[in-house]
Amino acid sequence: MSSSASRSPILVTGGAGFIGSHVCVELINSGYLPVVVDNLCNSSAESLKRVAQITGVTPVFYQIDVNDKDSLRKVFATHSFEAVMHFAGLKAVGESSQIPMKYYRYNVAGTLSLTEVMEEFKVWKLIFSSSATVYGDPASVPIDEGFPTFTTNPYGRSKLIVEDILRDIAHSTGSSKADNQWNISLLRYFNPVGAHESGLIGEDPAGIPNNLLPYVAQVAIGKLQQLSVYGNDYDTLDGTGVRDYIHVVDLALGHVAALQSLNKTGVGCRAYNLGTGCGYSVLQMVNAFEKASGRSVPYKISARRPGDIASCYSNAQKAKAELGWEAKYGLERMMQDAWRWQQKNPNGFSE
Ligand code: NAD
Ligand code: UD1
Repeated sequence: MSSSASRSPILVTGGAGFIGSHVCVELINSGYLPVVVDNLCNSSAESLKRVAQITGVTPVFYQIDVNDKDSLRKVFATHSFEAVMHFAGLKAVGESSQIPMKYYRYNVAGTLSLTEVMEEFKVWKLIFSSSATVYGDPASVPIDEGFPTFTTNPYGRSKLIVEDILRDIAHSTGSSKADNQWNISLLRYFNPVGAHESGLIGEDPAGIPNNLLPYVAQVAIGKLQQLSVYGNDYDTLDGTGVRDYIHVVDLALGHVAALQSLNKTGVGCRAYNLGTGCGYSVLQMVNAFEKASGRSVPYKISARRPGDIASCYSNAQKAKAELGWEAKYGLERMMQDAWRWQQKNPNGFSE
């Protein structure tokens, strides 16, 4: 199936971003038409041109802020959406403590504005980008969905608040009870890395990266001098922080699986971990990247980063059992794809 007219439209907010653009590719591969709403505050429309280059199908694109309800209504009036995937939001933990109001405006108010318009147009299926950050500093690992939720920064709080709002909405028995058919999946991502195997789309952080993998990739290519490893005195195998890195294409496939499962489940709101179930330390990541790239990644050991935790990795059995999804790409492939993207696009999407 290749013609856009025969495809079921899915609204993808934030679809020009890192995860959203990979999800657009996998939606197209599965026969859907992504309709992207993005204000481009942290992305470039070039990513969607690359999606078209990869798939032969051009996503529909509206440069709109999710807080702009009038413009959103026009989009909903134009397309008959089967479901909405909501990625639009801000994600820098440090910045969220400096400008919390902006984070609540974008992440919380933006979701309210979107769900209000969805209700007006009776579009009830929603997949929301949550984060493993909602587990705070877990008492043990691996983490399953029943673990208590807790967070210490405005970014994490915005995700927890939205999770609570969406659970309330899904279980509401208000004036339009007969109408309430909300069917919502909260997808808690662990650490997305890698890029599409074509090297055409990938992560394009503005300025100096905060996250480990883009930083390592920029050291390997010579844009940054050396990595600071934030602490080697954690209670982990080599003292450095352990995380559950997941290939962004696996994550994207998890969204397609969640979409298809929404068609089979009844109304309600469910949370799923999207991770691999494996944890790797910072030094293991550096070694794996050096191997994949054939470059050296100089590093120094620095102080712990405030707010960091020792270990965070998922129990991903619920997604396997209920969505029929599990991650299939290992560390080597994550690194090879991240390196291909970095080499082909040393300046990201800018010329
Ligand atoms: P990203 O910044 O690459 O993508 C977010 C997209 O949303 C961008 O294209 C941005 O321009 C757009 N956007 C932001 N605010 C908007 C608004 N008000 N209206 C319209 N568009 C808006 O980030 P990403 O890594 O692709 O993350 C996508 C989602 O997944 C975010 O909600 C993020 O919090 C969540 N998440 C990301 C990670 C991660 O490590 N990347 C981990 C857990 C959760
Ligand atoms: C960070 C966010 C988290 C968010 C996640 C995915 C913080 C405190 N947490 O988590 O809320 O959900 O990104 O976007 O920002 N590291 C270094 N040197 C670096 C960068 C990172 O040693 O230059 C280490 C960190 O200490 C950590 C690991 O690498 O042990 C991964 O860091 P990062 O990629 O920032 O992800 P998280 O800390 O898991």
